[in-house]
Amino acid sequence: MAITIIVAEAKAAVNEVTNILRRDRGLDIVAEAHDGRETIDLARTLRPNIVLLAASIIGLDAISVVEEITLASPDTAVIVLVDDADLELIRRLMRAGARDCVVRPVKDDLVSTVRTVNETMQKQRDAAVASSAAQAHQGSVIAIYSPQGGAGKSMLAANLSVALAKAVAGTKERVVLVDLNLQFGDIDLMLNLNPVNTIAGLAQKGHTGVDSELVEQYLTTHEESGLKILVAPSTPQYAESVTVYTVEQAIEALRETYHYIIIDTPSQLQDTTLAALDAANTILLVTSLDLLALHKTRTALDMLRQLYPPEKIQVILNRANSEVGITIQDVESALGSSLRAQIPSDGRLVVTSVNEGKPFVLSSSTTVIARRIQALASEILGRDASGNDGGPGGGGFLKRIFG
Ligand SMILES: Nc1ncnc2c1ncn2[C@@H]1O[C@H](COP(=O)(O)OP(=O)(O)OP(=O)(O)O)[C@@H](O)[C@H]1O
Ligand SMILES: [Mg+2]
Repeated sequence: MAITIIVAEAKAAVNEVTNILRRDRGLDIVAEAHDGRETIDLARTLRPNIVLLAASIIGLDAISVVEEITLASPDTAVIVLVDDADLELIRRLMRAGARDCVVRPVKDDLVSTVRTVNETMQKQRDAAVASSAAQAHQGSVIAIYSPQGGAGKSMLAANLSVALAKAVAGTKERVVLVDLNLQFGDIDLMLNLNPVNTIAGLAQKGHTGVDSELVEQYLTTHEESGLKILVAPSTPQYAESVTVYTVEQAIEALRETYHYIIIDTPSQLQDTTLAALDAANTILLVTSLDLLALHKTRTALDMLRQLYPPEKIQVILNRANSEVGITIQDVESALGSSLRAQIPSDGRLVVTSVNEGKPFVLSSSTTVIARRIQALASEILGRDASGNDGGPGGGGFLKRIFG
């Protein structure tokens, strides 16, 4: 595409400039202006790539013209033709927003000046677009944590991630699950994966930095749902190779290309777990109807509330239907927090699902436990994730699940 130019110059001198520019077919003089006000008006309406402005332009002083064009058409670069190398004037013009100044008499190299200035503007525009796209694309990080071993973190992480991935299939949104159980990760078993790469490989390769392209190479796909997984190391001795730096970098990189980043964590509060909790937008704190679990959850909650805003931490009650003499109200008052979701106990289904490596939100999607997790996924997405017919319909899908 030709570079569009307005030449702003006194009538008598305009040909000296336009003759040089017309020799290059890549340059297109879209207008000529002969005073300052006209130059500003034409720049505002035509929004050319370049305004070539004579410092001696009449009507308005050149500094005001540069300032006004820079404000009215920020993508236009102003190059000023000055009569002599008056450094003070050049400095003031550049400060007003001029991109370059050329000292007369103009020669053929005016063309290369125009081209260089235009290229710089283009690069800056591209960089600005890329960085605003990256900012707009910051994915949401959901860390699943419990101080209690065996609370159901991995069960929830695997099924919630699969429910989300299934729900966004066919859209632009993408979901990734990170298994941060660096010593004894089991998400690969739960989802029946055969990973080629793990987070340990990423740590090794990315010791000087991780970007979204690199992390992508270390993900494994769950074919049935389209979910991507950053699998835990294959043996515990690789755990130490995964540092806080790798975890932080990997999450940041995943945020650029994934909309939902679910992180399954171990119950030990090691530095990599804390890095995930720090990076999270939401922490789902899993607890159960058991005094020891509640005690630990309360202690963890007190600590987390000191570190993070209260709305970041949401409590999930797992095995919620167990008959153990503790009620939901007991839990809520003991924790000083209402429950974000309740997931019932379903030993046979959950264990079979784990044994077969088939997440129950896919294999038994109409069971109560699957529906509760789909409901949580729907809340996260802001739309129905159940895969059943009929949209949310003013909260109808939540009503179907919670009655
Ligand atoms: N709602 C449930 N109903 C029945 N069984 C469940 C339920 N939730 C979890 N389980 C079972 O409890 C066991 C522990 O679950 P899971 O591995 O998800 O816990 P975890 O918190 O990830 O444990 P760890 O701390 O070892 O990582 C598993 O055998 C799982 O099948
Ligand atoms: Mg686990």
